[in-house]
Amino acid sequence: MRDGPDRYAVMGNPVGHSKSPRIHKLFAGQTGQFLSYDAMLVETGRFASAAADFRDQGGLGLNITVPFKEDAWRWVDVLSERAQRAGAVNTIVFQPDGVSLGDNTDGFGLVTDLVNNHGVRIRGRKILILGAGGAVRGVLQPLMAQQPEQMVLANRTAERALNLARDFRVLGEIQGGGFQDIPGLRFDLVINGTSASLQGSVPPIDDDVLAAGGVCYDMVYSDQPTAFVRWGRARNAAKSLDGLGMLVEQAAESFQLWRGVRPDTAPVIERLRGSRRSATK
Ligand code: ATR
Repeated sequence: MRDGPDRYAVMGNPVGHSKSPRIHKLFAGQTGQFLSYDAMLVETGRFASAAADFRDQGGLGLNITVPFKEDAWRWVDVLSERAQRAGAVNTIVFQPDGVSLGDNTDGFGLVTDLVNNHGVRIRGRKILILGAGGAVRGVLQPLMAQQPEQMVLANRTAERALNLARDFRVLGEIQGGGFQDIPGLRFDLVINGTSASLQGSVPPIDDDVLAAGGVCYDMVYSDQPTAFVRWGRARNAAKSLDGLGMLVEQAAESFQLWRGVRPDTAPVIERLRGSRRSATK
């Protein structure tokens, strides 16, 4: 028998900024689980050996962040259905028999934050998603499972959005195109899945894409309001949210997979928001 806590970690590059260690330590404290959770910096191209070493040293689970989610998808032994569709793995469970299970909890995190934490309805609504990269692919299945009335993907490179829409069309009607191809509709929910926001810019979309009472959601998160959160506020969005809640909810789903216990996310989100406020003072 090994002594010491059960071992978990997040692998990424960079990874120093990751909030996952703090989130999982708060979950562990809250649920009385004896575990450790480290941030591990992995060199590009070294994911497979780093993950195998971690497993061989008795590690029980990993989170995977940029840029290794696709590497993890290729590396694991078994994929969940949602990971299979996402084309990316953000959570690995190492089973006692040595088999590695790959899952993706990002889309679950997004939908849970929107629906449970913020009371935002997706079912029957018109949704516009900006971006067509890995982050958007990772969340499409859980969003489509909510059965929106309309789903439009708009991207700088129109072809990527067209391809993504085609890949997911089995789940329901999805349109894809460039920013200039966005239909002249008012959307109830506009989700930013581009990385433009962290660089301080917002894709070139018309001011009137947002319906009165509509909601904006930026999948990224930063200590300051992101460019897209500010965009939504300036257009009187009923709510203009960043991805902090999504981050905590995807972590909670990973924690549940590993430990069989669902942590209470509200106090953890509150704690992280509290430290952000004091950090910006
Ligand atoms: P991720 O895993 O974060 O999705 P990605 O697959 O590289 O990373 O995708 C980044 C997304 O942000 C893409 O949709 C990209 O648009 P392109 O497909 O046209 O490259 C989008 N993006 C990045 N910078 C952008 C910018 N300045 N303006 C608009 N879209 C941008």
